[in-house]
Amino acid sequence: MTALDSHTQSSDTPIRHEGFLRHKRYRYLKAAVVISIVSIIVYLFVDVEPRHNGGTWYGYTLGTISTLLIVWLMLIGLRKRAITPGHWNLKGWTSAHVYLGASLLVLATLHTGFQFGLNVHTLAYTLMVFVIISGFYGVYFYATTPRRMSDNRAQRSQAELLTAIRSIDRQLREAAQPLDPAYVREVKRAISKTKIRPGLFTSISATQKRCATTHALKRLRHAAPSAPEEMRRPLEDIMAILERKNALLLRTRRHIRFTTLLRLWLHFHVPLAFALLAALVAHIVSVFFFW
Ligand code: HEM
Ligand code: HEM
Repeated sequence: MTALDSHTQSSDTPIRHEGFLRHKRYRYLKAAVVISIVSIIVYLFVDVEPRHNGGTWYGYTLGTISTLLIVWLMLIGLRKRAITPGHWNLKGWTSAHVYLGASLLVLATLHTGFQFGLNVHTLAYTLMVFVIISGFYGVYFYATTPRRMSDNRAQRSQAELLTAIRSIDRQLREAAQPLDPAYVREVKRAISKTKIRPGLFTSISATQKRCATTHALKRLRHAAPSAPEEMRRPLEDIMAILERKNALLLRTRRHIRFTTLLRLWLHFHVPLAFALLAALVAHIVSVFFFW
């Protein structure tokens, strides 16, 4: 199971909706703001010689806090996979992850004393900034998409949606039996040529427009008024089923789009986080050995 699936509690259970941002009345946002302000105040008022940097007592303190925080942030991957609903739930973890993760921008920056260069220390710092920026994108994504997803999913998983589509195809084949061969060909083409998966760079509405089911529906609608009397009823039935299939295709495509984008995002955020961890180890080892 991918990270994404576990976020969505796998595609078999309803997705966890937005709400982690506001969790416990912004408890972790408040914590992050307080921690950041306190560390800035201390930074401004303590006297360290010769100047602030990672090697002063305050630098070490902030470096240690930042590192512990990063290690803890990485643990969310494990936490997500441990199914232990309870007081310390995943929503709380995600909320803390997001806000405390963002507070690293203050803590780690103060740790460096604003001394950057072309070295492994700054590499660790840069990677951290990229992880955080990608984190913001993820939050934007989660905060804007699940609402649409919940309309879209109607609590159905992708597998269920695909099964429903197959069942509609069976209905189409049956309903097409009394039709003239020309219409049957149309229906068969609609079944065989419909591609469910939307292309990554094509909008869902463009996919819907170009879809073989939409084309068949259009052509049958056009042909129906001039069809022989006895064909009209079965044609009406076919068109109703095609419309249902169209709606289902729309839901399924949105679902696939959502899960694909989410997976892509995690494939960005997580490897960057591991790269950060590696650079951080190199940074810490190097300062202890060479500094
Ligand atoms: C246990 C944790 C950490 C320790 C013991 C530590 C230690 C140090 C020390 C001793 C320095 C001063 C090096 C010098 O002046 O040449 C330093 C600088 C620095 N640290 Fe850390 N650090 C830690 C965590 C972090 C973290 C989490 C980051 C950011 C991701 C980071 C990024 C930097 C940067 C960018 C500098 C400035 C390097 C420079 O002066 O060119 N450190 N750190
Ligand atoms: C240096 C800081 C950070 C590190 C090391 C880090 C690392 C991680 C890791 C390892 C995961 C687990 C993904 C998985 O295995 O499924 C994750 C998930 C996530 N991260 Fe971060 N992250 C950091 C900062 C941030 C920030 C600042 C934000 C938001 C502003 C953020 C947003 C998220 C979100 C929304 C998830 C998905 C949570 C979920 O699926 O429940 N991260 N992060």
